[in-house]
Amino acid sequence: MLEIKNIFAGYGGNEILKDVSMDVKNGEIIAIIGPNGAGKSTLLKSIFNLCQVNSGKIIFDDKDITKLPTHDLIYEGISFVPQGRQVFSDLTVKENLEMGAFIIGEKEVVDRNLKMIYGFFPFLKERENDYAYTLSGGQQQLLAMGRALIQDPKLLLLDEPSLGLSPKAMKEIFDKVIEISKKGVTIIIVEQNAKAAVSIADRTYVLEGGKIGLTGGKEILKDKRVKNIYFGGE
Ligand SMILES: Nc1ncnc2c1ncn2[C@@H]1O[C@H](COP(=O)(O)OP(=O)(O)OP(=O)(O)O)[C@@H](O)[C@H]1O
Ligand SMILES: [Mg+2]
Repeated sequence: MLEIKNIFAGYGGNEILKDVSMDVKNGEIIAIIGPNGAGKSTLLKSIFNLCQVNSGKIIFDDKDITKLPTHDLIYEGISFVPQGRQVFSDLTVKENLEMGAFIIGEKEVVDRNLKMIYGFFPFLKERENDYAYTLSGGQQQLLAMGRALIQDPKLLLLDEPSLGLSPKAMKEIFDKVIEISKKGVTIIIVEQNAKAAVSIADRTYVLEGGKIGLTGGKEILKDKRVKNIYFGGE
């Protein structure tokens, strides 16, 4: 459903991604791992048109979306949860979700999708009138995911959803990612937590210095290069 063809992308003259290609099939969970600064977030941003793609193509459902503005990408069925639990702290839980739904416009659809999110994350319903800053880190991350899911995406881009969370909160996030996938949403997840990401992914891409160094299934954790990045060569 998503094909990234030889893209070079970055910020102004600062080219970060160099000849990156990726192929994502409908319903897959794809993990992207790699060291800090490798360009993982930039890769997600290039799909969502939040950085410059200088050459190459991005095809989504047989359509060239390379130059489409971000709000059109949301209409096409792509949603993005940025790195770092970005919720609006001074808005309530419900207002945060409505911000995600804003782009849909039609009240009926918004109400229906809001119900769907509350069914999926019951605690968000319980806390709907609380300010987002009163939620725990893990709950804020789930709210950020809810805000993207309310757009009813076909493809969900998740940037380091488990960053800075306790093992228990992390497990909850990964369980939710699996549940979202079972609903038929295709997922690309960027993660520092390589083991957890690889274990839920159908395939993993390892990004190093703006290039895809390696791609494969769960066996990838045994690869020397991956061990070097994450486990100091152990
Ligand atoms: N808005 C920006 N403007 C200019 N350069 C940027 C911008 N965002 C990121 N970069 C640069 O792009 C490179 C890759 O950054 P990116 O955020 O994609 O890495 P990452 O793999 O997601 O790292 P991390 O694991 O730390 O999140 C870095 O050298 C960074 O300084
Ligand atoms: Mg990043």
